[in-house]
Amino acid sequence: RAVLAVASECAPLIKTGGLADVVGALPGALASQGWAIRTLLPGYRRVLAALGKPRVVRELPSLLGSKARVLAANVDGLDMLVLDAPDLFDRDGTPYLDANGNDWRDNDLRFAALSQAAALIAKDGIGDWTPEIVHLHDWQAGLTPVYMSELGATQPTLLTIHNIAFHGLTGYNRMRALALPPSGFHPDGFEYYGHISALKAGLTGAWAITTVSPTYAQELTTEEFGLGLEGVIRARAAQMTGILNGIDTDQWTPTSDPAIVPFSTPRGKVANTVALRAEFGLAPSDGPLAAVVSRLSDQKGLDLLLGALPALLDGGGQLVLLGSGDRRMENDWLNAAAAHPGQVAVRIGYDETLSHRIYAGADAILVPSRFEPCGLTQMYGLRYGAVPVVARTGGLADTVINANAAALAAGCATGIVHAPKSIAALAHALTHLCRLWHDRPAFQRLQRNAMKHPVGWEASAPLYAALYGQLAAAHPESS
Ligand code: ADP
Ligand code: GLC
Repeated sequence: RAVLAVASECAPLIKTGGLADVVGALPGALASQGWAIRTLLPGYRRVLAALGKPRVVRELPSLLGSKARVLAANVDGLDMLVLDAPDLFDRDGTPYLDANGNDWRDNDLRFAALSQAAALIAKDGIGDWTPEIVHLHDWQAGLTPVYMSELGATQPTLLTIHNIAFHGLTGYNRMRALALPPSGFHPDGFEYYGHISALKAGLTGAWAITTVSPTYAQELTTEEFGLGLEGVIRARAAQMTGILNGIDTDQWTPTSDPAIVPFSTPRGKVANTVALRAEFGLAPSDGPLAAVVSRLSDQKGLDLLLGALPALLDGGGQLVLLGSGDRRMENDWLNAAAAHPGQVAVRIGYDETLSHRIYAGADAILVPSRFEPCGLTQMYGLRYGAVPVVARTGGLADTVINANAAALAAGCATGIVHAPKSIAALAHALTHLCRLWHDRPAFQRLQRNAMKHPVGWEASAPLYAALYGQLAAAHPESS
């Protein structure tokens, strides 16, 4: 049974965050459930270069004014459809930002074109392939239901919210450029305080909505987390569920990961820990090695960690951080490393292989996010025996069992969960980490529990499959 997925990132082709991991993993996870997913992705320069010899499956001489075509290729087992529109996507820079770190000025048009192409593919299919379900990811695919209804494509649509912080806003003056129907510009459509919101188009137009953890699904109904869309979310509560992300456990396996010294027990990590300290120039130490692998943005709460750092260092702990993003935060962290030579080490940049070495070598992975729809780094941490120290929010709350007295006594703890999101609470969690680490049997038990905790797609793939099935059954043209 066929699904068209629409997204702005897909690992391993192009990735800026967890969205890519999830979009890249869902086809494999759903295949065993009888659903075959083809993923439509923009033809960024990097993506085109990775395609080898694609087939041209559709010419689109004027897609919202740009010359475009749809390419098909199989990449690493993924069935890809790529929107080749050089005016829109063939550029240097990231999927969203130019070389100076500013949003591309035509992001509204770029992702409207992606959504328009998705609607055309839904309507006409490709050869004898027609999707039964159209699965949209985040605002970049949000306008698809609008274009589908304009074109008369009737398939059920599912919108997955990975991060509600990005609304895909643009001005009313762009209605014509984006070929949007005036009839949709109202509060129950894609109008948002006088602007056009691509995410709201998806939230109001999709048949069903999911987000990436049960706790975030509930948080989204509140002002604090809904960020202006909580009313829309509440209005659609009956069609909304939270389905927890998994990670690709084939690619992330400590016993066979080519990037590390393979291990299957907490003790087996030691060679990786020694190597990681050496790689980052940290002094040998009798304390926990904590790590962060993260985008540097306000969401991630790493300014709170700067404030709580003394608690970690006073407890004998050390820190490595791999991240990039906000320039000011990059500098703050470089300054912290300079202030604590041999104890705090920072690498600014994006490095997938290094991230594997960090999860393998670290005793703990720190995720003090202000909000976290799901979060994947705590799951990589669990899998690699790097005990997660996380804020109690979103998917972090759904994946880590706090080492409180009850859980320690029951022998089921996998990490440390702190609340509220404050420097004081985080400092307390870091002190707790250092104390636990010195109780070697207790800490190794935590690590063993973490490594055993199921983090793959085995629980969530059937939930997506069931939802696809329900949506397909509700489609009048399905029988
Ligand atoms: P988000 O999508 O909000 O950034 P997630 O935890 O869901 O957060 O996913 C982040 C993904 O990006 C993980 O796969 C993580 O390992 C990876 N990642 C983040 N920053 C870096 C970096 N600087 N280098 C390598 N990988 C990174
Ligand atoms: C977003 C969220 C993150 C989530 C990822 C994949 O980037 O910030 O929490 O894990 O999407 O769903």
